[in-house]
Amino acid sequence: MHNQQRYMSFPLGSIVPGSLPDFKIFIFSRDSRYVLWSRDGGRVTPEQLAKLSAAGHHEVFLDLDEEFKYDEYLEDHLGGILENRLTTDEQKASIFSKVSTNVVKDAFETSLGLGAMDSKTMVRTQTMVENALIFIAQSNSIQPLAKMIGHDYRTYEHATKVLWFTMAFLRSNPDIFEQVRPDYDSLDDHLRTEVLRHCGVAALLHDIGKALVSPDILNKNGRLTETEWEIVKRHPLNGLAMLLDADLPDFVKKAVLHHHEDFQGGGYPMGFEGLQISMLARVLRIVDTFDAMTSRRPYKQPVPPLKAMQIMVGKPPEKETAPKGKIQDERDIGMRRCFDEELLRKFIIFLGDMKLGQ
Ligand SMILES: [Fe+2]
Repeated sequence: MHNQQRYMSFPLGSIVPGSLPDFKIFIFSRDSRYVLWSRDGGRVTPEQLAKLSAAGHHEVFLDLDEEFKYDEYLEDHLGGILENRLTTDEQKASIFSKVSTNVVKDAFETSLGLGAMDSKTMVRTQTMVENALIFIAQSNSIQPLAKMIGHDYRTYEHATKVLWFTMAFLRSNPDIFEQVRPDYDSLDDHLRTEVLRHCGVAALLHDIGKALVSPDILNKNGRLTETEWEIVKRHPLNGLAMLLDADLPDFVKKAVLHHHEDFQGGGYPMGFEGLQISMLARVLRIVDTFDAMTSRRPYKQPVPPLKAMQIMVGKPPEKETAPKGKIQDERDIGMRRCFDEELLRKFIIFLGDMKLGQ
């Protein structure tokens, strides 16, 4: 009885001693075979793990049928994994991304059925953001983050990248918090962290209203019709409706509602301008645009980070980037009017500190 087994590799460093997963663990042997190393991961000792690592097995494998167990395990133990010294930053970034993508996907899917965010999903989202804080607090977490730039644009992964960029950006510009919450200065450390955490929730859920927009429209390869575009433009309002009863401060709900408003007016859904647009929404407008532009779309190559910044500050594209007959994204025309310029300047300095492309 030999079923065709398929395997998925995962980093040894994602196994936290003391909280081991209960699935079978395989190793890839020198003679190119998958060999059962442990029938029950739950019984593996830290010593055995150390031995395996010393033998050069930094990647181990599981039966693809047990992937769901691995996903559950990662989500339950993400905090410990992100603090594990044996796990590399790149592995942490990819594990974080995997778990976060699952959480956002579930948030979209369950909210679609309910028309609102349920409390269990909200707890998972908040836990995810707390884990992002652990990761971002590590001094060398920024490099794996830079490597995420240019990946494919998928709604759930995009949400994770917006979360990361927003939190890292805000941490390096704490003066912005005073405009997110006016009494920020008088708050103690615990409450300040809570403000940052809530900003993360807004970043992760900014597009939650897209759960109510048909995937056929969201993934359409080409220009949207006028009607389709009107439907897409409803997503900030849908998002607000979904979060209305959630136990979140007003600045989070406003950020979701305002994240497509343009600083000089003309955005949607309200057509607000300037300081009418909440501070966190102005931050999201920048981060969301930057990640969307630098991601690969089915119909569009990723824009290099430097080029994206040029477009965002308003310089017109060079002629060769818009060959005749090719779909040109209308956002490539220069976007200065969309953003709070002072904030955009800070964001560009922040990106510069990340030493992109090196
Ligand atoms: Fe959006």
